[in-house]
Amino acid sequence: MTTSVIIPAAGSGTRLGEDRPKAFVDVGGVSILSRTVASVLAADCLDLDRIIVVVPDHLIDPVTDDLRIAPCEVVVVPGGAERTDSVRAGAEHVTGEFVLVHDAARPFTPPAVFDRVVAALRAGHPVVVPGLPVVDTLKRVDEHGRIGATVDRSVLRAIQTPQGFHADALVTAYGNTVSAPDSAVGANTTDDAALAERAGLPVYLVDGDPDAFKITTPWDLRLARAMAQGWD
Ligand code: C5P
Repeated sequence: MTTSVIIPAAGSGTRLGEDRPKAFVDVGGVSILSRTVASVLAADCLDLDRIIVVVPDHLIDPVTDDLRIAPCEVVVVPGGAERTDSVRAGAEHVTGEFVLVHDAARPFTPPAVFDRVVAALRAGHPVVVPGLPVVDTLKRVDEHGRIGATVDRSVLRAIQTPQGFHADALVTAYGNTVSAPDSAVGANTTDDAALAERAGLPVYLVDGDPDAFKITTPWDLRLARAMAQGWD
């Protein structure tokens, strides 16, 4: 089964506080995006059809140039204001039976996570997400900082990427937003599986991996740079 991988990399990275879009921040001499593309190429389980990289408008040419030596077809397209807009832009270029959507901001995702997602897709699950148990105690809090209740963490998972879709399931998930790009449908959605859930598709969980963490904060960047130096 051939696979397209959409890598949304068009976020500004406001929470990281660096001087450039997050995916283009340096980690050990290489951009976060380059590391993520390399991790996709290292996932032997993928019968890769093409990689679709979604970037800020002004970075299309340099990214196309950087990725020209990749051993598969690479399509570079401009992203949108929200992550959902960027993934939708990438989804227009999908080919093959399976689609993985994988955050550029998760450069250390191990091949085993790709393996588990693809194995579940091959087993027939239309939508597959990797996730981890939540380790901290979770509490509801109101706008005044008052604790309301403690949430049962045993039924919760922290969801990562790559998120896998049979190609028709991705179309179903994004159907509403494709036909109405300016609508609020899909707004405030932080992952793609949430759109699949809203469309009534079953979403299957496989084990994630702590190394597949998303670089979001300055602390995450320090961790990533330490990992790039061989600390792990
Ligand atoms: O903001 P967050 O870290 O959750 O973004 C996850 C991924 O989505 C990142 O790789 C980021 O570059 C991408 N993104 C995007 N377009 C946006 C916002 C985020 O491609 N408008």
